[in-house]
Amino acid sequence: MGNRLDGKVCIVTGAGSGMGRASAIEMAAQGGRVVVTDVNEAAGRETLSSIEDAKGEGDFFACDLRNPEAIRKLMDFTAQRFGGIDVLHNNAAVHETDLTEHTSIEDLPDEIWDMVYEINLKAIWLATKYAVPFLKQSTRGPAIVNVASTGSFVSFPQAGAYCATKGGVLMLTKATATDLAKYGIRCNCYCPGAVDTPMVQKYIDAAPDKDAIMSVLSGAHLIPRLGRPEEIAKLACFLASDDSSFVTGAAYAIDGGTLAWRGVNA
Ligand SMILES: NC(=O)c1ccc[n+]([C@@H]2O[C@H](COP(=O)([O-])OP(=O)(O)OC[C@H]3O[C@@H](n4cnc5c(N)ncnc54)[C@H](O)[C@@H]3O)[C@@H](O)[C@H]2O)c1
Repeated sequence: MGNRLDGKVCIVTGAGSGMGRASAIEMAAQGGRVVVTDVNEAAGRETLSSIEDAKGEGDFFACDLRNPEAIRKLMDFTAQRFGGIDVLHNNAAVHETDLTEHTSIEDLPDEIWDMVYEINLKAIWLATKYAVPFLKQSTRGPAIVNVASTGSFVSFPQAGAYCATKGGVLMLTKATATDLAKYGIRCNCYCPGAVDTPMVQKYIDAAPDKDAIMSVLSGAHLIPRLGRPEEIAKLACFLASDDSSFVTGAAYAIDGGTLAWRGVNA
């Protein structure tokens, strides 16, 4: 694969788990200097250890994305530690099934709606806003990579807040690309199908019929299996790197073909 991200300073949110962890490790393997950030300090430090074990370069910064001041400090920390910011990978998100049993539109608690909105959408805007002064100074092809979802386009049961925020991430990506093009800052998102991470495992565990939900999840893929975090990390690196220098405002499906058809594999 080579060192696509040589020297680039990359921030990865939610890098303590799942796809964020895989992307942080892959970015470091491709030569990036990676700030791993997560609200879960132990998990984030584990990711950093994996990077360092592979002789990669990085650091950890604990940040709760519900706290705007902490997001601002994340940017200052990164710039002081590594001399700037070149890549912001807005990966972290939560799903209401992790937070409450009342996940249907008619009984979702107000505070859960607010939490999903703050972490999944508002924090992406704030992180972008606070990173822009540093990204503007980047001489290494500044890029923002957001994580949307197939839920940006189609809904899932018990996921109204999640899907609404992911639809928002799609449009925020386009709006960000539009406003920041004048600075040479690109912004793209990708839209995973069901990927084998703790978030999906919890969604499966919360379902009354686990076999049924499993066949809904991977049965919706033309490639009839869950995605692997390492597969997603390659796309994150492409969008963060100069290999995608003519790509901005785009939404890449990485979903095993889910959005290409309306069938379900038996
Ligand atoms: N797994 C899937 O099938 C799937 C599908 C489509 C999109 N996505 C998206 O991919 C991204 C990664 O998902 P994943 O499955 O790897 O999730 P995950 O639950 O495994 O990891 C999410 C990480 O975000 C962190 N986080 C949660 N709240 C936070 C907060 N307030 N502040 C800081 N960090 C916080 C968690 O501690 C965790 O480490 C998310 O944006 C998710 O919506 C996932």
